[in-house]
Parts: sequence; structure tokens; C-alpha cells
Amino acid sequence: MKKIVISTGGGDAPGLNAVIYAVVKAATYRGWEVYGSRCGYLGFLDPDEMIRLTPEKVEDITPTGGTILGSTNKGNPFAMPVENLAGEIQIRDVSERVMKNFNRMGFDCHIAVGGDGSLEIAHRFAVEKGMHVIGVPKTIDNDLEATQRTFGFDTAVSTATEALDKLHSTAKSHDRVMVVEVMGRDSGWIALNSGISGGADVILIPEFRFDIDKVCAKINDNELHDKHYAIVVVAEGASAKDADVICKPQDKCEIGRQEVLLGGIGEWVADEIRKRTDKDTRSLVLGHLQRGGSPTTFDRLLALRFGAAAVRLVETETYDHMVALVTPAMKPIPLEEAIKSRKRVPADSDKLLTAREIGICLGD
Ligand code: F6P
Repeated sequence: MKKIVISTGGGDAPGLNAVIYAVVKAATYRGWEVYGSRCGYLGFLDPDEMIRLTPEKVEDITPTGGTILGSTNKGNPFAMPVENLAGEIQIRDVSERVMKNFNRMGFDCHIAVGGDGSLEIAHRFAVEKGMHVIGVPKTIDNDLEATQRTFGFDTAVSTATEALDKLHSTAKSHDRVMVVEVMGRDSGWIALNSGISGGADVILIPEFRFDIDKVCAKINDNELHDKHYAIVVVAEGASAKDADVICKPQDKCEIGRQEVLLGGIGEWVADEIRKRTDKDTRSLVLGHLQRGGSPTTFDRLLALRFGAAAVRLVETETYDHMVALVTPAMKPIPLEEAIKSRKRVPADSDKLLTAREIGICLGD
């Protein structure tokens, strides 16, 4: 008999509920008990936020978006923002309290579902506090090197592709350039996959700084070929050669810093295109639409497989590991290795080749 606790941390992603479902079902199948910690580690700090998860509680959650447990990207117990009596926010280390409660509640293992940030915290608990943890990789950005896929990515790409499909008709009707900013932080996977599938004329990704003149040349070339509209996909982390990286707030801007909000490059690109080509240009930010909604079949299946595989790792006590998709199998990868590097689009990617060969400008 084992007692396990599951938490979801960081930005949500479609498929989180499918992981919870699989963990609850696979653990119950073994006669174990499952609890869910609300909003990351909150349940470890406040028992009212720790909920018993039974098969009845999770019965129909697989196709739903978001997470029934809630999530936060400000919940690192090693550096938790806490309000003091004077109403000021102070950063405190509450990790020891988390660990004490983990032991007091009699848990054997914590299944932490999260992206690089949450998995790094889980690994710290394993190494510094001796917590038994298993990681499950989640992020729409698909930027974890150790797994071929993270769940949430396929849904985000589908949403972005559908948006591009819809923009074609309005762009064409008005002879306009439409610039679409998509998520992905410092990786261009969402932009590249949706841009190729959604018939973009230009795709700009963070891996390579782009030349705005090349982008405008492509738009002018469209005109010469009697195509009077264009679709430009820009990843939120992309930046132009010889220009500052754009993010919010601008003074904290530094590529790779997770706490910085990216965004704004789409508008910048649209302004430059308007100024340099005289084309009527509009920009839009797809934003959190990419994180919402029901997971695609691919993401559901992947999330369910991750959840079941995580429970198998609990059974074999393969702690301080993350489940990873290494086709066709689910493989345990040491967390230390899993969080070491980000997966970015390599220069020799077949997708880049494909994009170029079908006439898409990459701004280089
Ligand atoms: O990591 C997932 C992600 O959606 C990124 O693509 C994006 O930059 C960030 O989270 C947005 O975070 P928030 O939900 O805090 O706005």
C-alpha cells in the first residue's frame, strides 16, 4: 500500500487533467491512495488545500482543459512570496515546512507535473530534503530536451494552426499583412510547426535573429507574384538583428529568464513592415488561447501514458526521475539530466529545410 500525492505547477497546459486521471486510476488499481495538492505546493502548507482524489472524483476530467488542482508559477517553496503582518511581500524559504508535512501526512512519493521550473524544484526537494519525487513533463513550449514531446504542445500547435487558417481569408479580402505572435518562450517549436502547417509566408523564431529587410523583401516579392497579402508568424521570444529583445517590463528583459513575460515582438514587426512596405498591416497576439481548451487526442494519450508510467516508477521506487517519451517507450530519465538543457530548434532541423523549400521566409 502506498500513499502518493500529485501536484501541478507552472503555467497550465491541455492534458494536465488526463495525467491526474491516469495517476488516480493506475494507483487505485494497485490498491494505493492518491491525494492532490492544490496550486502546486499549497496543500503541503495548508491541509485544507490537500484533497483526496478517488476514481469518482476524476471520472470525466480527461477531455477537459486546465487542471482540477489549480496551478501557480509563483509557488516555489524555496523562495515563496509571503505577506507579513505589515502587508509587505517577503521572500521566504518554506521548504522545510513542506517536507515536514509530506512526512507527517505519510506520503511515499510526490508526482510533480510541471515544466523546467517545477521539475527543478522537485529535484531540489529530492536532493536537499530527501523527498521521493517523480516528474512528469508538461509545457506547451515543448522545450524539454529529455523527452521527444511534452503534452500540451500538440493542442497549442492545433489552436495556432486553426487561427492561421482563419486569418488567410480576412488577410486576402483586405490585401493585408497579418502578423501573429505565438508563445514558446525561447523555443520556436510552436511558431515553426503552426507556421508550416498554416501556410505562413514568414516564420520568425528565437533561435535565429531575423533581418527585417528580408521579411519585407518577401512581402514585396509576394506582390510581384500577384499575391497581395501575407501571413507572418512570430514566436514571442524572437528578436531582430541589431535590435533589443522585446518583453514586459522592458528593463528586465533578458532571454532565458523564466520570470520575465515575453511579448510585444509581433506589434514591433507589424510596425516595421507597415513603415517599410506601405502595406496595410495588422498584428494579433494569440496568447493564452494556446493554453486553453480540450487536449487533442495526441496530448490526451501522451498525458495518460505519462501518468500511468509515473505510477510504474513509484512501484519500482525509481525516484528523482522524470518519465520521458523516447519512442516507442516511456523511459525514466534522472531529473538532474532532464532539467539540464532546453530543446531548441536546431539549425539542421528538417522542419527548417521544409519551410525554406516550400517558400517560407525565415528572416535570414
Ligand atoms: O511556458 C508556457 C508559457 O505559456 C509560455 O509560452 C509563455 O511565455 C508563458 O508561459 C506565459 O506565462 P503566464 O501564464 O505567466 O502569462
